[in-house]
Amino acid sequence: MPKKFSDFVYTSHMIELPITQINVLPGFIDLGMGNPDFDLLPIELLRQSAEAYFTTSDPRYLQYGMEQGDGFFRCALANFLTKAYGTHVNPDLLFVTTGASSAIDLLCTLYTRPGDVIFVEEPSYFLALQIFADHALRVVPISMDGDGLRIDVLEEKLVEYRPKFIYIIPTFQNPSGRTLLQARREKLVELAQRDDFLIVADEAYQFLPYTQAKPGSFAVHTEDVRQVISVNSFSKILAPGLRLGWIQAHSVVIKRLADSGLLQSGGGMNPYTSALVRDLIESGELEKNITSLKKEYTSRLEAMDSALRQYLPLVEYTLPQGGFFFWVHLPGVDATELRRKAQEFKVDFRQGVLFSSQMGMQDYLRLSFCFYDPEAIEEAVKRLGDCLENKKPGDDIGSLAED
Ligand SMILES: Cc1ncc(COP(=O)(O)O)c(C=O)c1O
Repeated sequence: MPKKFSDFVYTSHMIELPITQINVLPGFIDLGMGNPDFDLLPIELLRQSAEAYFTTSDPRYLQYGMEQGDGFFRCALANFLTKAYGTHVNPDLLFVTTGASSAIDLLCTLYTRPGDVIFVEEPSYFLALQIFADHALRVVPISMDGDGLRIDVLEEKLVEYRPKFIYIIPTFQNPSGRTLLQARREKLVELAQRDDFLIVADEAYQFLPYTQAKPGSFAVHTEDVRQVISVNSFSKILAPGLRLGWIQAHSVVIKRLADSGLLQSGGGMNPYTSALVRDLIESGELEKNITSLKKEYTSRLEAMDSALRQYLPLVEYTLPQGGFFFWVHLPGVDATELRRKAQEFKVDFRQGVLFSSQMGMQDYLRLSFCFYDPEAIEEAVKRLGDCLENKKPGDDIGSLAED
């Protein structure tokens, strides 16, 4: 069911203080939300591991941590990744972060200067584009097709530019849901070595496939190839509020990260939280959590697919195989205008132009299926269908969301 507004704020003495980034107006269903549902956050698991931690009275994880991240945590994570990737992962090539966003930001700090050229997929994750803007980078888009980044376009751009890095989301991309074809991955690694630019592969959705498809990770190259950096996070497989993630990269990159001023001054990025999460990895709870998330998200994905077929039969999309998003094409429709109109129907989404570094993708919508249950997803898509058909907003709109 849609959430109550009171879920998102702490009300005290008649003032409302936001606790989360979530800001959905009463009665609205916001299919723009790219974060996990409150009901899927593992509060009980974290309570148990925090309780176990505090009964040991071990103060070391409250100290400044080792720059690269606690060794025991990195070993547990390496074992988990070895099993998931089917290839040995060396804990020395792992670096603990406070999530994918901080990893991307730190990589920009260390490997770029204002005005440098970087390449991104078109479309790309809009908040990464904001990080690149913070660093005053010159963003050059590389177009995609159904199989991900177009290598032919990349090769053309490489004649013109010397990028510091290319930022890609190779698996179940945000926003398009697309996955980069294996042969293209290999070619990309070859080009990065040839022209010496970094590949920053943001693999935030790597562990959320909903079909048999099990795409490989760029991490498999990191032992030998200095240019490949795999960025990952616990935000989508445990909880964003943990602010915990990791980088897997060649030893030269790991050393550069650990030697940075930020790490030298502050120590390892998240020693206390990584100690709690280590417990969940070693006990097998992380794996169980991923299994149950995949089951839940599969049913939400199916609900969105069937609602789109029923209420928006004319839209174009490819069924996502994993991740959080449907990337819906409405040829000729201005999605920004549609979003404005959708407010009357108390439904929201994100317009494609947000994900474009060149004001393109105007007639695309990103619809997320992660934050609401199937019933609310169906209701939201129905409202969107009514909006597109220029029906009058129904009198009953809003009642579902406020119950
Ligand atoms: C592709 C991608 N990268 C990074 C993030 C943010 O990750 P984190 O919470 O680990 O900073 C998101 C969240 O939506 C995402 O979709």
